[in-house]
Amino acid sequence: MTLRVGIVGCGVIASGYHLPAWMAHDSAEVVGAADPVWSSLERMQVLAGLEAEQIHSDPMALVGRSDVDVIDVCTPPSIRRELLVGAAESGKHILCEKPLATVPSDAAAAVDAAERNGTKLAMVHTYGLLPEIKAAMRVLARGEIGTVRTVIVNYLGIPNDLVGSADYAPRWRYDAAQAGGGVLMNIIHGVYLAESLLGQEFQRASGYADNIDPESNVEDVALCRFEAADGAALVNIGTGLGNGGFEIAGTEGRISIRYENGGTAPWAKFEEVLVTTAKGTRVELSEPEIGIDPMKVQKDVFVEVVDDFVSAVTTKSRPRATGADGLRVLEATVGALESAAIGTTVKLPLERNGPAFEQGVLGLAELDLPDWSAVRRRGLYLPRTA
Ligand SMILES: NC(=O)c1ccc[n+]([C@@H]2O[C@H](COP(=O)([O-])OP(=O)(O)OC[C@H]3O[C@@H](n4cnc5c(N)ncnc54)[C@H](O)[C@@H]3O)[C@@H](O)[C@H]2O)c1
Repeated sequence: MTLRVGIVGCGVIASGYHLPAWMAHDSAEVVGAADPVWSSLERMQVLAGLEAEQIHSDPMALVGRSDVDVIDVCTPPSIRRELLVGAAESGKHILCEKPLATVPSDAAAAVDAAERNGTKLAMVHTYGLLPEIKAAMRVLARGEIGTVRTVIVNYLGIPNDLVGSADYAPRWRYDAAQAGGGVLMNIIHGVYLAESLLGQEFQRASGYADNIDPESNVEDVALCRFEAADGAALVNIGTGLGNGGFEIAGTEGRISIRYENGGTAPWAKFEEVLVTTAKGTRVELSEPEIGIDPMKVQKDVFVEVVDDFVSAVTTKSRPRATGADGLRVLEATVGALESAAIGTTVKLPLERNGPAFEQGVLGLAELDLPDWSAVRRRGLYLPRTA
C-alpha cells in the first residue's frame, strides 16, 4: 500500500526536510501541495515532480481531494484549525508540525475531529529522536539512575534570527498573533522532552518571561517550572544567552547531556552523554559514535518521523507523538506563559473557559496582570499597532 501525501505549507521545513523524508520512503508518494504563495508552490512543484493540477493555492482544495490519504501540515502554527479539522472530517490522516496550534482550543478541536473520524493525528516532535535523547531514554529504561526526580532542560542559546521562507513572512516567529508565543513556543521541543525524560505528565506550570527586543511582542526568554505528581522539570529557553544541555537526576544517579562549550543544540555540536552513579561516571554516548554534523542528524530525524507515521497508519498503531500529546504540551507551554503574566502557578490542563485556553497568549491581556509583570510592562502578546 502506498500512502498518497499532500503537503500544506511549502516553506523551509516542508521543502528542506519533510519532502526529502517522504521521497525516501518506499510506501509513500507526494501527490499534491498547497500554499497561497505562488513562488513557494512552484518551487515545491519542481522539487516533488508534481503536475499543474496537483498544486493548489487554496489548501482546502488539497484537503478535499479523494486521491490523497495524508495531509502533512507545515504552515505557521496560527493557520491550523480549519485545516486540521477539515482534513480529519474528510478522512485524512494528518502529520502536523509543532506546535499543534497556537491556541489550545484549536488544538483540542483538531484532536476531537481526528478521534471522531477515526484518523491518525501525529505530531512532528523531532527532538525526541535525537541520538543523545534516545541514549538518555535507554539509560532511564534500564533503571540505572533509579526513579527520576528532577529534569533540567537548557536551550538558552537559540539564535535570534530564525526565519521562515523569504517569500512569505520571514519573521512570523516574532509576532504573537502568528506564532502564539516567542522562543518558548518555537522551541516547544524542550517542553515535550522534559515531560518524556521525567516520565510523567505535568500538572502545574510556573513561568518567568521577558523580552528586551522592542521589535517583537513575544518572549525572548522563558524560565519555566513544570510540576508532576512525583517530580518536576525546569525548562529554560532563550535567545542569544548561550547555555544548553540537560541534567536528569534520579534516586540512584544522574545523566548529563553536553554540547560543545556548554552551548545550545543543535547549533552547538553534541559532545557526550554522561551517567554518574555510585560506581562513578561513564560515557553512554559520545560524539565519535554518531558523527559530528548536527544538521545532518536533524535531517535524519525527519526520515524517522515519517517512517513512524507511515507504520502507525498502515499497522493502525500509535504514533510516537499523538495529537493528544501535542495538545497537552501546548497547554503546558501556554500555562507557563500565563503564569509569567499573572505571577502565580497555573493548573494543568488549562481551565476550559479561560482566555488562555480559548485564545492562547493573545488572551493573557484579559487577565489581571500585576504592574511588575513583564508581560504587562513590555506589552507582550498585545496586538501590534501598525
Ligand atoms: N520540527 C522542527 O524541528 C521544526 C523546524 C522548523 C520549523 N518547524 C515548524 O514548521 C512549521 C513551518 O515552519 P517554516 O520554518 O517552514 O515556516 P515558513 O515560513 O518557511 O513556511 C511556512 C509556509 O506556509 C505557507 N502558508 C502561509 N499561510 C498558509 C495557508 N493559509 N495555507 C497553506 N500554507 C500557508 C507560507 O507561504 C510558507 O510557504 C512551523 O510550525 C514551525 O514551528 C519545525
